Amino acid sequence: MELAGGLVFDESPAFVAVAPNITPDVQTGIGGWTDAQIVASIREGRRPDGTIIGPPMPIGLYRGLSDGDSAAIVAYLRHSEPVKNTPDKSKYNVPLPPNYGSPVAAVPEPNRAYKLAYGAYLASPAGHCTECHSTPGPQGAPDLAGSLGAGGMQFKGPWGVSVASNITPTGIGKWTDAQVKTAITKGVRPDGSKLLPPMGIPYYANIAPADLDAIVAYLRSLPAK
Ligand code: HEC
Repeated sequence: MELAGGLVFDESPAFVAVAPNITPDVQTGIGGWTDAQIVASIREGRRPDGTIIGPPMPIGLYRGLSDGDSAAIVAYLRHSEPVKNTPDKSKYNVPLPPNYGSPVAAVPEPNRAYKLAYGAYLASPAGHCTECHSTPGPQGAPDLAGSLGAGGMQFKGPWGVSVASNITPTGIGKWTDAQVKTAITKGVRPDGSKLLPPMGIPYYANIAPADLDAIVAYLRSLPAK
């Protein structure tokens, strides 16, 4: 059932969102969409039929996903196994925006030579750390402008409720670089405690060392909140 959808997001009173099928199945997935249409759904939050994709898809962050990385994601989705599955439709109790901004024309590749800017790219459009780790604003969406990295978003699951930590220098400023990296890649804090999902599961286990360096440098540069 990989990528076949069905995961329900109901933490916010604003919606019960259901992740759709994004396998290449033509009838029930996105196999009939063109590459450009898939990229537009990720970066602009717009389906080929013109409808708008709602939260928790972090479209605001994905607008910054580079052309190369978007193309790589499309290639990966196209080569995944087609699965027939029709999850329920999402229900939004708040109106969705008519769009998330003007169409995204072209996004250049991040320059790895600029460590902080590259770390910012990895922590937002690519790794969406800041989506979970910024404090929710009045509509439930993270307040990326006012409280970037300050934590507070809640996640319910079989583990109970986990709360995203403050990852600005207020939260992890005293940790060494190695300790921050262990928390990200292995889900273990300096005191040995384990991080609950959705952190602590192995998405981030294989981040390349140079990328991890850039992420840590970027987190250190965030305003303390
Ligand atoms: C899907 C949501 C989500 C995403 C994405 C996410 N995190 Fe987390 N993170 C959490 C939650 C929730 C916790 C707290 C878990 C707990 O309390 O056990 C956490 C904990 C942490 C901690 C431990 C801090 C402490 O004081 O306990 C660090 C460091 C961290 N995350 C860094 C990152 C980085 C860097 C990224 C991106 C590469 C990232 N996170 C992406 C939800 C997320």
